[in-house]
Amino acid sequence: MTIIVDQPQFENENGRHEEVTKNRAETELVLDGGFCIPHANSFGHNFRDYDVESERQQGVENFYRVNHINQTFDFVKKMRSEYEKLDKIEMSIWECCELLNQVVDESDPDLDEPQIEHLLQTAEAIRKDYPDQDWLHLTALIHDLGKVLLHPSFGELPQWAVVGDTFPVGCAFDESIVHKKYFLQNPDYNNSSYNTKYGVYSQNCGLDNVMMSWGHDDYMYLVAKENGTTLPSAGLFIIRYHSFYALHRSGAYKHLMNEEDVENLKWLQIFNKYDLYSKSKVRVDVEKVKPYYESLINKYFPAKLRW
Ligand SMILES: [Fe+2]
Ligand SMILES: [Fe+2]
Repeated sequence: MTIIVDQPQFENENGRHEEVTKNRAETELVLDGGFCIPHANSFGHNFRDYDVESERQQGVENFYRVNHINQTFDFVKKMRSEYEKLDKIEMSIWECCELLNQVVDESDPDLDEPQIEHLLQTAEAIRKDYPDQDWLHLTALIHDLGKVLLHPSFGELPQWAVVGDTFPVGCAFDESIVHKKYFLQNPDYNNSSYNTKYGVYSQNCGLDNVMMSWGHDDYMYLVAKENGTTLPSAGLFIIRYHSFYALHRSGAYKHLMNEEDVENLKWLQIFNKYDLYSKSKVRVDVEKVKPYYESLINKYFPAKLRW
């Protein structure tokens, strides 16, 4: 899938913005799988550039301040036990996609489009490059559905408890985590049970046994697993760890991974390029692709899911 970014503005060394007039071949980077990475997001900045001056930058930094202070081991335990009851609502995957249309992720510096656009752009881009991996297409479609936690029917959680990068709790916060300075104010930071390399975990215990900061990733993982999905473990891995940038971008926390995690991480790294770089102003024809995704939903999920 080729994404064309409309008239992006880049900042030069002197801090001035200059319009990019290079042709498409010069502004795209081709990766394996034939996927082209545009050099700028829909605001004309580099992807995931948290330091760039933009209207959203201040809001994103404040988001991570509140997130890092409040995501504690006890908080995650409490949220997991509340949400694994799956007693909120019954609905199909597609109904959830439509519900998610009402939600905008404030932590994302790259996007201000409705979520369903992002789900379909990601899924369609992967489908083009990996046509035989239908489980991966469906994984892409559903990976962000947990953001319904922002919706009143799901408790209307604050943004810091739903979106943004995730990280393990119960062991030391890694240096590579975005805006890590705010962990100094997290009560776990000074708790000797939780602030060592292994904390409450052991070497190669497997990420399944690690508590992650609470948000849409872990919630959707619980929903898929508890509803008995037949998606392969790589699909569940992608859902649970797609916002775990310290792992899949920086290589942190590998001492907690088991052999299956190592295999699944390869798929996550493929997936992540599409999750990140297919965000654009390009629209997908929802009605046209809907029958294909409905068939995948029927294949891998029961008709109605408990949420
Ligand atoms: Fe996500
Ligand atoms: Fe996403």
